[in-house]
Amino acid sequence: MTLASLVARKPIAAVTDSLAAESASGAPALKRSLSALDLVALGIGAIIGAGIFSATGSAVAGGGNHIGAGPALIISYLLTAIACGFAALCYAEFAALLPQSGSAYTYAYVTLGELCAWIIGWDLILEYAVGNIAVAVSWSGYFQHLLAGLGLHLPPWLVTDVHRGLATGAIRDAAPRLFGVPVLFNLPALGIVALLTVLLYIGVKESALFNKIMVAGKLLVILAFVGIGGFYMEPKHLRPFAPNGLTGVLSGAAVVFFSYIGFDAVSTVAEEARNPQRDMPLGMLGSLAVCTLLYMVVTVVLCGLLPWHQLGSDNALVDALAHKGIHWAAGVLAVGAVGAMTAVLLVFQLGQPRILYSMARDGLLPSCFQRIHPRFRTPSFGTVATGLFVGLPAAVLDINDALDLCNIGTLFAFALVSAGVLVLRYLEPDRPRPFRCPGVPLVPLCSIGACLLLMAYLPAVAWLRFGLWLLIGIVVYALFGWRNSRLRRPPEAAAASEA
Ligand code: ALA
Repeated sequence: MTLASLVARKPIAAVTDSLAAESASGAPALKRSLSALDLVALGIGAIIGAGIFSATGSAVAGGGNHIGAGPALIISYLLTAIACGFAALCYAEFAALLPQSGSAYTYAYVTLGELCAWIIGWDLILEYAVGNIAVAVSWSGYFQHLLAGLGLHLPPWLVTDVHRGLATGAIRDAAPRLFGVPVLFNLPALGIVALLTVLLYIGVKESALFNKIMVAGKLLVILAFVGIGGFYMEPKHLRPFAPNGLTGVLSGAAVVFFSYIGFDAVSTVAEEARNPQRDMPLGMLGSLAVCTLLYMVVTVVLCGLLPWHQLGSDNALVDALAHKGIHWAAGVLAVGAVGAMTAVLLVFQLGQPRILYSMARDGLLPSCFQRIHPRFRTPSFGTVATGLFVGLPAAVLDINDALDLCNIGTLFAFALVSAGVLVLRYLEPDRPRPFRCPGVPLVPLCSIGACLLLMAYLPAVAWLRFGLWLLIGIVVYALFGWRNSRLRRPPEAAAASEA
């Protein structure tokens, strides 16, 4: 294994030519059906979800491994948005240049070389699939809240993670047994992932329509929260503004980063966009701008409702309204939270198989991930595999650790993409770029610096798990990708040597 072959870069022309060749061959290919509005909606669909509804309260009040920001969380939201904005500009340059479904993985392949590309593709599983495990578990919590509002209650052994179920005697004792082992799992979390997997298997256009309906619903409930909560705000709660100073603000920023994850998922459907050059930057920056504004306003209203240290719940928005006695609005908001998280789940379940598809096309993963359904023209095997990878752990795991792991993996991917912009500008300065990231090298450098700063505020255990995940990835690469890479071993050469 020579160093030179590990950093072998895929020529950009190879990427663009393979797209043209695939569409000319008449083989089943992804369908170009998504408009600019579809893309902005996909971005908002991926962005607004468990973060604003579940993480905001604990980011304000603190808890676990994090220090509370207090009302200054509004600054945390702004800082994180600026950091994401820098990264979005870098993503947009690549997404317009390489409208392929692999996102950051493809960008790394043409700039930083194969090993980096593999690491980033492997790392993106943390963002997409592990992030979705957390969202599915959180979805289940809100869904149960809704059912309870309708007077319906599932048995506790059907709505618990295994750890809590085993630790809680009453739940454990009530559970049915299989070969003497108590059966404990989170049925709603598994169910929603299964349902969305079927939807995505059938087709992306249908799913984009479903996503738009969900997005409209969640924008409405967020605006309703602002409108109704605004009447009950008391300015005295906004003081002290930053009870834990800069440390609180930065720790809050590392937590609420999760709320912004998703704008980059737009890049994974670049092969299904009608006009990727124009619409990729529009989709990412547009959705990011809308969400930033909403988050900042929601945070001001939330912090105006109760003293900051009383907001530390997983359902802070709903609880704050209920605390003020506005129970009907809390109920409506719970419906919105379920819708919001459904849309997030959808976009990430959509993105993950498309990244796996690109990696398989390059020979770094088995070819089954490249399989396109002849009728639905969706990556069928990858969609089902992602459904199993997310649905089964979501049925048994607890949410919290998945959040930090998702954050650290995503920040790492953003930093590498930003570095990729610098590398490609240096290696191929004259290549025409349909969208140019402004302020190079400053913007990519700021993006890298901001990502590293936020990573530094994540807990040590997240770093440990992240390191372990990368280590497993390197072993997988050594055992499979290294031998099967199409870049270093084109199919004709492989066939000749086997003959
Ligand atoms: N940004 C997404 C959410 O908040 C991941 O659920």
